[in-house]
Amino acid sequence: MKGIILAGGSGTRLYPITMALSKQLMPIYDKPMVYYPLTTLINAGIREILIISTPQDLPSFEKLLGSGESIGCSFTYKIQDKPRGLADAFIVGADFIGGDDVVMILGDNIFYGSDFDKKVREATINLDGGIIFGQQVADPERYGIVEFDSDHKVVSIEEKPEKPKSNYAIPGLYFFDNQVIEIAKAVKPSARGEIEITEIQNAYLKAGKLRVNLLDRGTAWLDTGTFASMNQAAQFVQVIEERQNIKIGCIEEAAYRQGFINATQLQALAEKFIKSGYGHYLKSLVS
Ligand code: G1P
Repeated sequence: MKGIILAGGSGTRLYPITMALSKQLMPIYDKPMVYYPLTTLINAGIREILIISTPQDLPSFEKLLGSGESIGCSFTYKIQDKPRGLADAFIVGADFIGGDDVVMILGDNIFYGSDFDKKVREATINLDGGIIFGQQVADPERYGIVEFDSDHKVVSIEEKPEKPKSNYAIPGLYFFDNQVIEIAKAVKPSARGEIEITEIQNAYLKAGKLRVNLLDRGTAWLDTGTFASMNQAAQFVQVIEERQNIKIGCIEEAAYRQGFINATQLQALAEKFIKSGYGHYLKSLVS
């Protein structure tokens, strides 16, 4: 299975802080935002990852993440010249996906929870159709929303509905089989001129091939869409990290635990970050 991180968008909802820097490169406490979704993919055992961003921002992602080799991964970069919608990632990424299944994660979605990592790993095995997730939120009008019937069966998915039919939002983490490329190509632009990810989800739903996996209340799905929620996400990370002396969203640690790199390689990476303290943490994992 291949992985895609979509880190595009103009970030206008966070102006002026995103005027000169991509939203997904903003710090969430002690790391750039994109480290968190990247860690989610690595925890799922995904090594081949495509990063899609704007012409202005893509070079910064390349500068930050490089080829991926140092953490046992292979990163590819591709420009999305206009924000044509989330579903466009499967068209931009078609060559990269080739004949494989694919998981796409949005560069601003942060997840935390041990049961979550297990659920994500399971989704990579024998995928037939699509798997998406659902979690209750307080502000459903801001997300893709799942509608259930009285038997808890999913009947529809709506993008940012004015009158949401449930409080279950769909996080930005989507597993699809190879059909997704053709499905994405057939999606017509919505009223806001974008090809919506919810159209792809509805196509799989209609074909009886969509599974919606509800995340339990022990899983944190953090929002970074507003100044306040970005700050809250940073506080969440800081509280857990300081209390438990662990790191959330540490790509080097995730790669080490997945066996992508060995202790000697981790040790070498630690030296690079020794002055910020991040390196001391990496060192402590080896000893
Ligand atoms: C996007 C999707 C939406 C999803 C959300 C998750 O919205 O369109 O379906 O629920 O991500 O973060 P955006 O945040 O890009 O407006």
